[in-house]
Amino acid sequence: MRAPAILFLLCSIAGAAAVDTCVTCHAALEEGAKGPATLIKGDVHTAHGLSCADCHGGDRTTDDQDASMNRAKGFLGKPARTAIPKFCARCHSNPDIMRQYAPRERVDQFELYQTSVHGKRLASGDGNVATCIDCHSVHDIRAVKDGMSPVHPLHVAETCSRCHSDKEKMAPYGIPTNQFEEYRSSVHWEALAKRGDLSAPSCASCHGNHGAKPPQVESVSAVCGTCHVLFAQLYDRSVHKAVFSGVGGGGGCIVCHSNHGIHQPSTAMLAGPKAVCAGCHDAETSPAKTAVEMGAWLDGLDGALKNSETVLARAEEYGMEVSEAQLRLIDGRENLVKARLAMHSMVSGEMRKPVEAGMAVAAETLKAGQAALREKDIRRWGLAVSVILIAIAILAIRGLIRRIESGPTAMTASGEKTL
Ligand code: HEC
Ligand code: HEC
Ligand code: HEC
Ligand code: HEC
Ligand code: HEC
Ligand code: HEC
Ligand code: HEC
Ligand code: HEC
Ligand code: HEC
Repeated sequence: MRAPAILFLLCSIAGAAAVDTCVTCHAALEEGAKGPATLIKGDVHTAHGLSCADCHGGDRTTDDQDASMNRAKGFLGKPARTAIPKFCARCHSNPDIMRQYAPRERVDQFELYQTSVHGKRLASGDGNVATCIDCHSVHDIRAVKDGMSPVHPLHVAETCSRCHSDKEKMAPYGIPTNQFEEYRSSVHWEALAKRGDLSAPSCASCHGNHGAKPPQVESVSAVCGTCHVLFAQLYDRSVHKAVFSGVGGGGGCIVCHSNHGIHQPSTAMLAGPKAVCAGCHDAETSPAKTAVEMGAWLDGLDGALKNSETVLARAEEYGMEVSEAQLRLIDGRENLVKARLAMHSMVSGEMRKPVEAGMAVAAETLKAGQAALREKDIRRWGLAVSVILIAIAILAIRGLIRRIESGPTAMTASGEKTL
């Protein structure tokens, strides 16, 4: 307690003006209790002029420990774990307070939190679940857009996985603990973390930040459609919409794509040993045949476009001008994308239009590539012939020179005659 004593002395010399005694005294304490006063420097609340007493209550103008932290005068101390959401909600659910600082800030975090599995379990006394500070940290709370925030899109997955990948902690609930591991192998993690595409989902995009599910979604399994709108429209009018409801938990896209470990789709999902369709449709049944047919169309178009691509690339290597055909190939690729999309209707007929349009592009660009290669051959022949002609001319001139050099008599004798 020697340090605080010195501090009190300093404080009294400086006078009471604008000194926050909670901060000054705590900053001088031993490790542990000193922590908050050090951490708080980077906290978003500090940046808005809020301090210890705004959260914990107490009197920040007196340097007397007992008077400062007097429970009778409203000091709250350290909140119990189950009381934390309400502790934060004192401000965050109060539009009158929040509007003074951030006019457009939401004030529904606590209300939504109470609808989540976390909130419900906490209300029943289970302290294992996430409270506000497990996701946002404490004394070092950052604005969401701050790259150091644990709920910044690039960090959310790690924050959730602190508990959800902890087998011991999750054991009482009997739910899987592989979400982070699976998610890290997915196309979404690839897009978000490796390509920096912030439109790709992290845990909270699909599960909601505070509530049980994101807005405009009747169940988490319907969340894919908030981003993949066109796929969802086709799926919704497909034969599977009704029969998948409830399959594998939530039904929907995740029956074929899974939820956390979504990998790059390919026609291997339609036909062959890894086909997802085969899980429900026996070979030789009509849906299985449809699956094989759809796979063959997609592979056929993909193969045809790749073939054109190769031929055009070869022509380009020889210096032929094929940029127009190469540009046209982009249309072909777009048709392949459209065909993959149309496949989600589960009606092979709906794929016909984009497949045929794509095939037409493939045929047309192949023709352009082959024509360019033929043209190259013709030019080569032309070149070869002119090389030969030039060689003959050189030989003839050499012969002539040699004759000239062989003697002046020969020169006048033959030279004058020919001229
Ligand atoms: C003169 C020094 C001093 C001042 C001023 C002071 N504290 Fe403390 N505070 C302490 C010490 C020492 C402890 C740890 C010992 C204890 O629990 O009493 C502590 C503990 C705490 C705790 C943890 C209590 C718990 O319930 O576990 C909180 C929260 C706290 N202080 C907040 C504040 C706030 C807010 C203010 C200003 C209104 C403040 N302190 C002012 C010295 C001080
Ligand atoms: C945004 C609200 C908020 C602010 C501002 C805040 N605290 Fe806290 N503080 C909390 C919460 C919530 C806890 C409970 C943490 C827990 O359960 O682990 C806590 C816990 C504590 C504790 C208990 C020891 C610990 O670390 O668990 C101390 C001491 C403390 N705060 C001191 C301070 C001091 C000193 C300041 C100002 C420098 C301060 N707090 C500012 C919310 C706040
Ligand atoms: C399960 C983790 C989790 C819990 C629990 C949690 N939050 Fe959040 N919070 C988030 C995420 C994730 C975001 C948003 C990140 C984004 O927008 O990209 C967020 C955003 C916020 C924001 C910014 C405004 C907004 O609503 O988007 C505030 C304020 C906030 N949380 C306060 C709270 C409070 C108060 C509690 C407790 C009642 C709480 N949070 C509980 C994860 C959590
Ligand atoms: C004394 C009122 C008050 C209390 C109590 C309080 N906050 Fe805040 N909080 C604010 C204000 C004011 C802001 C700044 C305005 C804003 O950005 O929302 C803020 C900002 C935030 C932000 C940043 C939001 C953003 O813009 O990205 C988060 C996250 C947050 N608080 C979480 C918490 C948590 C968690 C607790 C409880 C431990 C808590 N707050 C307690 C008033 C409070
Ligand atoms: C402090 C630990 C902790 C953190 C951090 C945490 N959770 Fe949880 N979560 C739990 C516990 C414990 C449960 C209860 C499990 C249950 O009831 O099945 C749970 C339940 C859930 C459930 C419901 C599971 C079910 O039963 O269907 C979802 C979804 C969930 N959490 C998502 C998240 C997301 C997303 C994040 C990060 C934004 C997160 N959690 C952060 C501990 C945590
Ligand atoms: C692309 C969307 C998406 C992302 C990203 C996502 N989830 Fe899920 N998650 C789901 C869906 C859909 C379900 C199944 C819900 C149902 O059955 O109703 C689910 C289920 C869960 C469950 C329940 C237990 C289980 O495994 O079935 C937990 C816990 C969970 N997710 C946590 C997480 C965590 C942690 C992350 C981040 C590492 C995450 N999720 C990322 C969509 C997603
Ligand atoms: C928050 C928006 C968002 C949500 C929600 C979402 N995705 Fe995605 N998804 C993306 C983005 C962004 C990409 C990356 C696109 C790219 O690679 O160009 C992507 C990529 C994909 C891909 C790979 C596509 C490709 O062409 O490489 C599949 C498959 C996929 N998502 C399926 C799903 C499923 C199934 C769900 C629901 C469980 C879902 N997504 C939820 C945004 C989302
Ligand atoms: C009946 C199984 C099934 C269902 C249900 C399903 N898909 Fe697919 N999906 C596939 C198959 C098979 C492919 C692979 C096509 C290919 O690349 O050859 C695919 C491919 C995709 C692609 C990649 C397209 C591309 O251009 O590479 C996305 C994105 C996608 N699906 C999203 C969704 C979304 C979102 C839903 C739900 C609204 C959904 N899928 C439902 C089977 C399904
Ligand atoms: C979870 C099981 C399941 C999976 C996986 C599944 N289906 Fe189905 N499918 C059904 C059920 C059930 C029906 C409706 C009953 C029926 O006609 O067999 C159906 C119907 C169909 C139909 C309409 C049948 C008709 O003759 O009108 C087609 C086409 C179809 N599925 C194609 C596919 C394709 C392609 C895949 C893989 C990309 C696939 N299915 C994956 C369960 C599944």
